[in-house]
Amino acid sequence: MEMNDLSRSEQAVFSLRSLYRQFGYAAYKMSRFEEYDLYLRNKDFLQSQQIITFADQNGRLLAMKPDVTLSIIKNASGSGVQKLYYNENVYRVDKGTHAYKEIMQSGVECVGALGAADVAEVVELAVKSLALLSDSFVLDISHMGILQALLQESGLNEGDRGTALHYIQQKNLHQLSGLLTSAGCDGENTQRLCSIAGLCGGAAQVLPELKRQLPCAAVEELQNIYGALEAVGFGDQIRIDLSVGSDMKYYSGVVLRGYIEGIADNILSGGQYDKLLRKMGKSGSAIGFALNVQLLEQPQNSGTDMLNIALPKGRLGEKVYAILKEAGFECPALEEGGRKLIFENPEKGVRYFWVKPSDVSIYVERGAADLGIVGKDILLEYKPDVYELLDLGLGKCRMAVAGKKDFADSPGKTLRVATKFPNIAVDYYSSKCRDIDIIHLNGSIEIAPILGLSDVIVDIVETGTTLKENGLEVKEEIVPISARLIANTSAWQFKNERIRTLCQGLEEKLK
Ligand code: PRP
Repeated sequence: MEMNDLSRSEQAVFSLRSLYRQFGYAAYKMSRFEEYDLYLRNKDFLQSQQIITFADQNGRLLAMKPDVTLSIIKNASGSGVQKLYYNENVYRVDKGTHAYKEIMQSGVECVGALGAADVAEVVELAVKSLALLSDSFVLDISHMGILQALLQESGLNEGDRGTALHYIQQKNLHQLSGLLTSAGCDGENTQRLCSIAGLCGGAAQVLPELKRQLPCAAVEELQNIYGALEAVGFGDQIRIDLSVGSDMKYYSGVVLRGYIEGIADNILSGGQYDKLLRKMGKSGSAIGFALNVQLLEQPQNSGTDMLNIALPKGRLGEKVYAILKEAGFECPALEEGGRKLIFENPEKGVRYFWVKPSDVSIYVERGAADLGIVGKDILLEYKPDVYELLDLGLGKCRMAVAGKKDFADSPGKTLRVATKFPNIAVDYYSSKCRDIDIIHLNGSIEIAPILGLSDVIVDIVETGTTLKENGLEVKEEIVPISARLIANTSAWQFKNERIRTLCQGLEEKLK
């Protein structure tokens, strides 16, 4: 068989294997199944909490492996340095469709008494892996030590630090700023910490800035790694981005995310995870990464060089377009009316499309749109993997619990909650340890308590008129809602300058 007869992902697996062998990595093979207990004990380490399980003939609970790293660590010998590579299928549940998916992964793990050279070698392998797959790629690097130092300076308590890290990962600096302010951080320090948290760009520019603002051993380590990569000709493809962070409980050092132009998702992810090793009773260090080679088979993005922006149909979308127009991103075709849904202005490099408000985040997460305008309610409900760049302060309303005026909750009974937002309702009530029964409706939610279908509703309240006219009242406020500008994580890498220009334009006009 000729190499050309193979699919893009099969070719990738061959080339990657030969790269890893050249660097002295040995093949690691494992079965499709692993004891479920291994994943149960380290659930947060996994990308998805949903694991496919079954009982074997002896009654042992097994799982279709969702990940390879945990098995490698479980079997690690503990002496010297073990260098392993793998090509394995992992099994996950699709976030959108809930269907079972088989994903082909290639990756490396380096485990044992690691020195700085071993860590640098794994990062070099990550860059070289991306270079084998595409001419246009980016490796984003961060370091958990830098994030730790940043959180240390924030003075936030342990619980709030988790929230802050989550905001940093989403590039959600507006909420990070709110969190710091409400925790007592003064204006100047809040601004300083947010500007550090938002640092991202070429390593040559960002590292000196980090050194100045937050000098620590982790910055030095990144500087050395970058020096080694620059020496082998990959300086330009390395970006430092503090939004690349992972769970503090597992990761301890360098963290990596790799992107290839035209693929909507990050194709490579990994990092140093000494804390996982400790948790599993092992000593030493470990660093590795996995490539989701299957993404190479997915149809490429529209390929257009324009900025693709999903606008929510309706008043909010029209308002935001008017501001974008003022900011210099006009598109006269869009103003002509009619039933057309896609409009372009090649001169300004923008392409707009009208989509259902609740679909905006899907278009952006999957890369059909680079940017989108969406309500915070949709982001909280679907938790898409996107960057949340701006709070536009438009479309302000609140998510609330409402019920009949005479309704009083009695803790002894399961509370029946009707809602269009089942995930928001479940998250809210589980934070209060309240047992609920969700009734998922699609609209006119206010009718549910009136007809006795539910005790309360969890819904959006804007003017409060709908509640009032139906004899209901707000019982509890859950969260304020407003429109947000979101970005696809891969578009952020490859259309960065234009996205930043648009953000600045919007921000200035919103002032
Ligand atoms: C939303 C929401 C409330 C109403 C609140 O419904 O679900 O019903 O608006 O607005 P108010 O506080 O200003 O009265 P939407 O208009 O989306 O219709 P739906 O009931 O079909 O979902």
